[in-house]
Amino acid sequence: MMFRQNSILLISLICIGMILACTPNKEKGEKLKYQEQYRPQFHFSPEANWMNDPNGMVYWDGEYHLFYQYYPDGNVWGPMHWGHAISEDLVYWEHLPIALYPDSLGYIFSGSAVVDHANTSGLGKDGKPPMVAIYTYHDPIGEAAGRDDFQTQGIAYSLDNGRTWEVYQDNPVLANPGIKDFRDPKVIWDEQTQQWIMSLAVLDKIRFYTSPNLLNWTFASDFQPSWAAYGGVWECPDLFPLKTESGEEKWVLLVSINPGGPQGGSATQYFIGDFDGKTFNPTQEDVEWIDWGADNYAGVTWSNIPEEDGRRLFIGWMSNWDYAQVVPTTTWRSAMTLPRALSLYTVKGKVYLKSKPVEELKALRGKEFPILNSTTEIGSKSFEVHIPLSDEKEFEITFSNDSQNEINIYKVRGHLVFNRSKSGNTSFMESFGRVNAVKLPDIQLDMISIYFDQSSIEIFINDGQLAMTNLVFPKRAYTHMDLVGINPAGKIYHLNSIWN
Ligand code: FRU
Repeated sequence: MMFRQNSILLISLICIGMILACTPNKEKGEKLKYQEQYRPQFHFSPEANWMNDPNGMVYWDGEYHLFYQYYPDGNVWGPMHWGHAISEDLVYWEHLPIALYPDSLGYIFSGSAVVDHANTSGLGKDGKPPMVAIYTYHDPIGEAAGRDDFQTQGIAYSLDNGRTWEVYQDNPVLANPGIKDFRDPKVIWDEQTQQWIMSLAVLDKIRFYTSPNLLNWTFASDFQPSWAAYGGVWECPDLFPLKTESGEEKWVLLVSINPGGPQGGSATQYFIGDFDGKTFNPTQEDVEWIDWGADNYAGVTWSNIPEEDGRRLFIGWMSNWDYAQVVPTTTWRSAMTLPRALSLYTVKGKVYLKSKPVEELKALRGKEFPILNSTTEIGSKSFEVHIPLSDEKEFEITFSNDSQNEINIYKVRGHLVFNRSKSGNTSFMESFGRVNAVKLPDIQLDMISIYFDQSSIEIFINDGQLAMTNLVFPKRAYTHMDLVGINPAGKIYHLNSIWN
């Protein structure tokens, strides 16, 4: 008996000891999450492994859903799944299990999601509208066999707020007519014509389809103006209405293109025009880019944002196919851009697209201090800087560290230039060190805002009239900021991590 009591005591002590020994390690392990070198602290990135395009963004029942191209078994591109995360505020994200897995029709490529409020698809149940994902099936077997019809469009639906998904039994809903690049469906409900509209990237054009029910699609028109950018294949379209400052409705068409971007590799062009439920007619003929940096690709906007909010919310993949698979990150590859609200602004009768980081990000602001001198010690790896501009002909802002890494942002001869040639590790791809430049539009420059997060820098002129997003891989954080040709003024905010 005594022996039994002693051994129970001993076993209990061993267990308590083990728990005590394990707890700090576990906590330590948890704290280490999202602490790798270069790991973004206030941008979305997957817990581990490879991510590319944002997919299926939809708002429903208080949650912003973000699905994304995901390869769970490695940190380079592979058989695509849809990863999934949700947020109540576009700032803090919760990872959810993978939503869509490859099946007998192929890998799950990019696409969109909508809430079918009127249950036009009949996939809803007991008065609950379905959340419907519309995506491209990429059949690797058909591709390997040299066929040209290996990309088709399929759908899946969820009746529990995106937590579990049922693949539609009669997929594909849109078969391939024999065109190799036939992908990335973005679907919207068009109030005016009371039908669903699908924008699809087809080689180097955008093809529009219409549907009453998300299940049967009818060809409407092709968009392929002679003057657009055609340096590469067209991908990931998005079509949506926005109002100008004077209240006139315009339609915006986003088209990602790879290669052929203004800084080399991938980038997203946009078109402003009118749309009558069938045809998109551009009302201006210039190539414009949603972001003039090298690292904002495949971005599209959220569906079903409530009318009382009224914003058109965008997020992009913060990388470039030129080097996305070799950037020097370790356990994961790629992050998304900051979420941005899109709006229109007019200069000399011409309408442009503006993208501004969402207001919700202000919740991350920590220590705040004014810029008083031409040299400032920043003191954080994640920060936000706002510097007022007046009519400087030329200026230069340099961020640097004690390891001789620096990035230079400067205005010269009417251009905004971003130089990352000495930013840190650039050796993984020769073209990465290339200097980025954009001709400034004919606007008064009032403010430059910069968001820096470990390995990315997003620059916005005048609240996003011009945006430039770029990756950088410094040996250590840039701790100094030097201003030349600008009056030292404005503010710096340290930004808190969303992961810890
Ligand atoms: C864009 C893209 C899409 C495709 C997906 C595959 O980056 O090439 O066209 O659906 O990535 O992962």
